Amino acid sequence: MKYKKKDLIVGLDIGTSKICAIVGKVKEGKLDILGAGVVQSEGVIKGVIVNIAQVSACIKKVIRIAELDAGRRIDKLWVSIAGSHIEGKDNQGFVLITGQDRIITGKDVEEALRRASSIVLPAGREIIHILPQDYIVDGQNGIKDPVGIRGAQLQAKVHLVTAPSSYCQNIDDSIRDAGYEVEGLVLQPLASGVSTLLPEEEDLGVALLDIGGGTTDLAVFLKEGLRFTRIFAVGGDHLTNDIAVGLHTTRENAEKIKLDYGVASVDLIDRDEYLEVEGVAGRGRYKVKKSVVAHIIQLRIEELFELVDLELRSSGYKGLITSGVVLTGGSSLLPGIDKKAEEKLKLPVRVGYPRISSPEKLLSPVYATGIGLLLFGLKRREEIASKERIGVKIKEWLKEFF
Ligand SMILES: Nc1ncnc2c1ncn2[C@@H]1O[C@H](COP(=O)(O)OP(=O)(O)OP(=O)(O)O)[C@@H](O)[C@H]1O
Ligand SMILES: [Mg+2]
Repeated sequence: MKYKKKDLIVGLDIGTSKICAIVGKVKEGKLDILGAGVVQSEGVIKGVIVNIAQVSACIKKVIRIAELDAGRRIDKLWVSIAGSHIEGKDNQGFVLITGQDRIITGKDVEEALRRASSIVLPAGREIIHILPQDYIVDGQNGIKDPVGIRGAQLQAKVHLVTAPSSYCQNIDDSIRDAGYEVEGLVLQPLASGVSTLLPEEEDLGVALLDIGGGTTDLAVFLKEGLRFTRIFAVGGDHLTNDIAVGLHTTRENAEKIKLDYGVASVDLIDRDEYLEVEGVAGRGRYKVKKSVVAHIIQLRIEELFELVDLELRSSGYKGLITSGVVLTGGSSLLPGIDKKAEEKLKLPVRVGYPRISSPEKLLSPVYATGIGLLLFGLKRREEIASKERIGVKIKEWLKEFF
């Protein structure tokens, strides 16, 4: 195995259904996927780590697989974070420009960002992302990089993402116990967005919905930035559960039925044949119509999109997502889910696949977050490096989040 080098970048997606590690190599600013590993997730409920020992064991296993696949040793990881108690909040910070000739410096920008992120947080919460949205210099908005511009007053508008400190601590502990280090935490839908969205969608306005196993992550992007986040504790596992309850069978059988016959709408059933279901604890096999399965799924999926619609409306972003909606995550592979989303949300919908050249097996919505972690990590590293090249020393606190 070759020895570790700085050109390596690794994403670890800790999902409710699976934990995957993807190893990339950075060459001339481009990402080359070297290998990956995936294991079934244990110790994660609705996107949140609830058993450090189990998650840590999964991480050890998955990293070993990824290391062998990539032929490289791994040390640092860009890790995904989710959970229904993650929240987004807009804030702003001002600074008066007092330096020579009133030319805005990197230090001024840093100070404006520091002020914008100085919010009083309830005990046990912390900021995981400080996402600059816009800079305003003497009232002029829409400035992407104010360094070098003259002005008397600089205003930084940011979107802050906060999470319970316990979420971050449990991730850190699981990774440290497995023998690795966290390079950065990335909100799951932010990572999925980076890998699946087109620049014009992010600019015009788009809602990303990552429908995984335990959670559905909603993120609104507008003018190239994340504007709104909400994580619902509902995902594909609920479909499986509903099928298990509705058909009186085990979750394993229900999952198989969902993957083999599941569709998002009863209308999609052409020939309503019977399928065989294995009863619980030796109760024998019996027959159920495919439309019954479709009906169970349809009810839950409709309920989910109604929830999303309500959230989009109350956030005020419903009318601003001109590009529509992008579905990703494993449950976006359910046939007909895009049409169902269109019907319920009354917006154009497409299914988002990772937009990167990669081994075929990773080009699935299941790996949108994993691949997004690499792209996000790469972008962050480049931003920090380019700022440092022009003499801006980014402080440690900012490096971690920004
Ligand atoms: N072809 C398919 N049709 C329907 N559902 C599918 C299909 N493939 C995968 N799924 C479902 O996708 C879910 C897993 O998706 P994913 O791998 O994105 O979840 P995760 O990232 O582990 O979980 P989360 O992000 O919610 O914490 C499971 O519920 C699985 O049954
Ligand atoms: Mg996921």
